[in-house]
Amino acid sequence: HSATVVIDPAFTIAPVRRGTFGTFVEHLGRCVYTGIYEPGHPTADEHGFRGDVLALAREMGVSTVRYPGGNFVSGYNWEDGVGPVSERPERLDLAWHSTETNAFGLHEFMTWTQVAGVEPMMAVNLGTRGLPEALDLLEYSNQRRGTARAEQRRANGADEPFGITFWCLGNEMDGPWQLGHKTAREYGRLAAETARGMRQMFPDLTLVACGSSSSGMPTFGDWEREVLEEAYDQVDMISAHAYYREQNGDLGSFLASAQDMDHFVASVAATADAVGAARKSTKKIGISFDEWNVWYHEDESKLPKGEDWPVAPRLEEDVYTVADAVVVGNLLISLLRNSDRVHSASQAQLVNALAPIMTEPGGAAWRQTTFHPFALTSRYARGQVLRVAIDAPTYENARFGTSALVDAVATHDAETGEVAVFAVNRAVDGPTTLRVDLRGTGAPALVEALTYAHDDVHWRATEADAETVLPTANATARVEDGVLVVDLPAVSWSVLRLR
Ligand code: AHR
Repeated sequence: HSATVVIDPAFTIAPVRRGTFGTFVEHLGRCVYTGIYEPGHPTADEHGFRGDVLALAREMGVSTVRYPGGNFVSGYNWEDGVGPVSERPERLDLAWHSTETNAFGLHEFMTWTQVAGVEPMMAVNLGTRGLPEALDLLEYSNQRRGTARAEQRRANGADEPFGITFWCLGNEMDGPWQLGHKTAREYGRLAAETARGMRQMFPDLTLVACGSSSSGMPTFGDWEREVLEEAYDQVDMISAHAYYREQNGDLGSFLASAQDMDHFVASVAATADAVGAARKSTKKIGISFDEWNVWYHEDESKLPKGEDWPVAPRLEEDVYTVADAVVVGNLLISLLRNSDRVHSASQAQLVNALAPIMTEPGGAAWRQTTFHPFALTSRYARGQVLRVAIDAPTYENARFGTSALVDAVATHDAETGEVAVFAVNRAVDGPTTLRVDLRGTGAPALVEALTYAHDDVHWRATEADAETVLPTANATARVEDGVLVVDLPAVSWSVLRLR
């Protein structure tokens, strides 16, 4: 196969947003306990934070971390997680049929974000709770001193306010599985009133209302419209969540998952704009794609049951294939391409639960296949996202009908002159020769071409063998007369760097 891409630095979409490279830490399975936090682990610091996980999170280039859920937050009392650890109550976590010890809470998370060098994105519970508890949490977190909640924080050891500015107004409130699930009108009113109250305390917050938990929800579209009809003036963004997986051996459809993400973003943007138009508003609502990934969805029957309420059980510990990593890389291409509308994104999740980083309690931490495209995209996407013109053959698949064999996006950093092209070859039957016309980029030279692929697209990294398949130099890449030419292997993800 062969395909061409034309890039020109004059055609920009939006700046690369660091917020595109967010991730998510939920009290789910072993994401927190024995994930980021494991006192007594050989690499743990004085706070009990695993040093091996911190190092991998830094290597991944994570920007923002959403916390504490997820479904978990809809039954969570944030007060349970502050104060002396020995006095914190154990609670049932109804979302994941587990026991929450509350040994890790708000202070521990905020300290972890500081050590990790990431920005927190905090969710309030709008399932079992509402405006008063959200205001209490905001006052506790951000009020400098003097008030009851500010003094409580200081007494608990944090003299300086946490200064959390980025907030989710609940989680997936459209889902019948969600504790305190609501209709769009009920939730829209609650989100608007919670946002209004929070802004009375701190006007400059960035607030995200819950959109649909997937574009497959029966209420998708109507939900966004009704929620924004209630909360348009109070919120900055509406969330989107999407998970993909290879189903019934249909690799072709799976590899085109980013096509669905593009369509999802366009649909939510159109709905938000329609609400804005009817209100005669000049404000644009952004999209927070705050849960996205490949997820094989262990079915609910695998959750603990009956009287079994374990602490930090092994839940949702997907072990990813090379094909999964190619799809993750392609989803990042979609998020970058949609940077004009997607103002923030969080891959779900960071450690152990549907995650790029895995750990063993007391043992090693290792990189899943999906770690690599995330880390390299976060590292090399710089400057402006460019609008690329792609001319590629198409293939038919059951899910989307017709899909392009190659997908790509490019970024251009005017300061350094660096161009990065991120490309996937979705062909399952062989390589595609990609020609990138570097029009207007000043004839840059090739710096590096890295490709992630394997003959066995279902190869999985494991603790015992996480290094056999790594991104490697693509020796076919060369620049000829202002055109970058490279062979992209079947089912592959690549980053091509020029300067
Ligand atoms: O990320 C795992 C779960 O997926 C989250 O808790 C929930 O919001 C979504 O359904």
